[in-house]
Amino acid sequence: MLARIVSLLALTASSLAVPAETITSLGYLKCSSDGQVTGYLSKSLNNFGEYIGVSPDSDSNDVNHRMLVNLDVTANGTQSILVKNAPDNDYPFLGGIGGEEGSTIGSDGDYLLVGGTESTASGVTSSYCGNTFTHSTNTLRKCASAIWIYNSTTNEVTPQWTNDDGTVVSANIGYVDAAFVLTGNKTEFEDTWSDSVQWITLTFET
Ligand SMILES: *[C@@H]1O[C@H](CO)[C@@H](O)[C@H](O)[C@H]1NC(C)=O
Ligand SMILES: *[C@@H]1O[C@H](CO)[C@@H](O)[C@H](O)[C@H]1NC(C)=O
Ligand SMILES: *[C@@H]1O[C@H](CO)[C@@H](O)[C@H](O)[C@H]1NC(C)=O
Repeated sequence: MLARIVSLLALTASSLAVPAETITSLGYLKCSSDGQVTGYLSKSLNNFGEYIGVSPDSDSNDVNHRMLVNLDVTANGTQSILVKNAPDNDYPFLGGIGGEEGSTIGSDGDYLLVGGTESTASGVTSSYCGNTFTHSTNTLRKCASAIWIYNSTTNEVTPQWTNDDGTVVSANIGYVDAAFVLTGNKTEFEDTWSDSVQWITLTFET
């Protein structure tokens, strides 16, 4: 009898161990603003450790400079996006990094930076994970990587950030001073920091 219970347990354990199917795909992250393609995320970082953009209009060799990412096209919730050609392999994920005002965004002009990060779990608040901004500037900032939601119908990739108090924000992506920001309210961001921000829709392009 005992042997039978043991073998049933073994059977249950092995059927639970079958991994859920994930299908990852390689591609680029295309930037559009007001329905016009403005460029792609670049594989390059600026001096602050923030990812910059690259546009075919200004760089005819842009394909070689684009960020190549690995995305799970079957995931429903937030996921981490691996940068296959990351300039710094210590921080291989495309992540959000706390801005000047901290790591909470929402109804004011506060914003996050976009750079390379270590991997963090889905749905958790940001933590002092290793990231390219901290590495480049020696300034401690929180970060999170599993903040991207892929919509397989539209191919859109949208950021969802978990604040320090646990509130979850669907963030807007801005392009300003040749780097990306994530912020909760476009109007508040423009009023606080910059009128010349370009609001970006990110699309996964294979
Ligand atoms: C993903 O979401 C869709 C629509 O909400 C649902 O039909 C599908 O079962 C979900 N897939 C998984 C793996 O949860
Ligand atoms: C994907 O985007 C379409 C169009 O905006 C929307 O109707 C749909 O609900 C989205 N799917 C998910 C899983 O959010
Ligand atoms: C953003 O802030 C403006 C000005 O405070 C407000 O009128 C607007 O409703 C906010 N937008 C959203 C989407 O919350």
